[in-house]
Amino acid sequence: GILVVDFGGQYNQLIARRVREANVYCEIVSYSKCLDRVKESRPEGIIFTGGPASVYEEGAPTLPKELFEMGIPVLGICYGAQLMAHVLGGEVVSPDYKEYGRVKLLQGGDAASKDCSSLLYKDIAPDSICWMSHTDYIKQVPEGFVVSSYTDNCPTASMEHVEKKLYAVQFHPEVHHTPFGQDLLKNFLYNVCGCEPTWTMANFARTKIEEIKKIVGDKKVLCALSGGVDSSVAAVLVHQAIGDNLTCIFVDHGLLRKDEGDQVMEVYGKQFHMKIKRVNAQQRFLSKLAGISDPETKRKIIGTEFIRVFEEESKKLYEEEGGIDFLLQGTIYPDVVESGTGEAAVIKSHHNVGGLPEDMKMELLEPLRLLFKDEVRKVGEEIGIASELVWRQPFPGPGLAIRCLGEITEEKLAIIRESDAILREEVRLNGLEREIWQYFTVLPNIRSVGVMGDFRTYDYTVGIRAVTSVDGMTSDWARIPYDVLEKISNRIVNEVKGVNRIVYDVTSKPPSTIEWE
Ligand code: XMP
Repeated sequence: GILVVDFGGQYNQLIARRVREANVYCEIVSYSKCLDRVKESRPEGIIFTGGPASVYEEGAPTLPKELFEMGIPVLGICYGAQLMAHVLGGEVVSPDYKEYGRVKLLQGGDAASKDCSSLLYKDIAPDSICWMSHTDYIKQVPEGFVVSSYTDNCPTASMEHVEKKLYAVQFHPEVHHTPFGQDLLKNFLYNVCGCEPTWTMANFARTKIEEIKKIVGDKKVLCALSGGVDSSVAAVLVHQAIGDNLTCIFVDHGLLRKDEGDQVMEVYGKQFHMKIKRVNAQQRFLSKLAGISDPETKRKIIGTEFIRVFEEESKKLYEEEGGIDFLLQGTIYPDVVESGTGEAAVIKSHHNVGGLPEDMKMELLEPLRLLFKDEVRKVGEEIGIASELVWRQPFPGPGLAIRCLGEITEEKLAIIRESDAILREEVRLNGLEREIWQYFTVLPNIRSVGVMGDFRTYDYTVGIRAVTSVDGMTSDWARIPYDVLEKISNRIVNEVKGVNRIVYDVTSKPPSTIEWE
């Protein structure tokens, strides 16, 4: 596989995803551990990511020269390109302007070889558009290198040393704004590194099932099934490997969407014939949450209570079964990948299933640990989960609680559940499901005056939140057509008791967040 070396840039995971999309396996490693990892695992190739530093800064991330002398192909991107030039004796300069945005890229450029026939640009049109985002650039390439492309503002948009298999690009091939970017990455992977495109989710599912059979044998596995994509795919995968030696605990905290709990039992229990124990903890969560309005306190209560319920139930099961050997979790790659950057500020404490209950001796089983979200979805489809389930929109662990502002009551939850079901139905009927990344209703804690028939009403306002996004880190509000909004608004006011006003949230993230709490 390929090693993606992280210098703290914003596109690190994106680069890794692009490599995987080219059906080549890769892992991300911090630059500080790069040399050890390379020696240990001898990757087929190495890709350096961008990063915020300048090579001349004190303490700037760097790599020893040795790395470039091991005969392993390297592709440096942005900061990674500058670092390659710097370490190998070229000259990097800091001009007082930035090159940012879509820029025309001209191949060739070295005085000696205007007609450049770089392997990297095989089958790529001679003047294409690329995405630039940099200040520093390579003024003088190291000895033995040639320039293979340039732009109006950048004399070295890419350089290469063919015999040593060292390549560097100043632009960003991983972003969609560089239309030929994926072709360039494939050229590097297939033609320079000699990788075979064998990383597919069909292969993954097949070999993983065999591996789980070997690891688990006839021992027992316990899983916290939430109905979300990750835990569901993990559970079905393991179930296909070991059948009834897998038991799932499904904690219904009463904060799920309309009919969601029944659907989990129907699909995974009845259709997939998995052993699932549903724990009806609705009242327990409601009473813990009674009178609580502060968003972070709500989140903490739900997180803690969830772990408690799961521990109690798993303890019972543990005793009944005379021990359980493994705890299955749907951990995925973005949860475990090391980041080259420091700690980010905590905006919301995200809730996911907690760790291992301490007094039960179970080993962790994390079959999806190396997969990106889209890969998990594809595995789900490979093993027979319906596509509307594996491609469903994200739903937060604390559920409807963080969409119910102020104190949580059964009455308010019912309003959210019903209005959300109407919104989801209309989005589906109007074919907007794939276009809108996430959509739901919220209940701000306000009532306002309205008139229905000849009567005054004093009822709740429901907010509609619908966003477009790639990964939830940033988002824009979705432009749902007015006539669809009108239909949704009419239906909610008419069909949901206690509502007399609908508002549409037209803020992006930032400055808002997607959820209201
Ligand atoms: P925010 O509101 O932070 O949400 O813009 C970004 C994405 O994360 C989801 N979200 C959560 N997911 N546990 C989760 O598993 C949580 O506690 C949680 N809080 C927010 C949110 O739905 C959106 O997709």
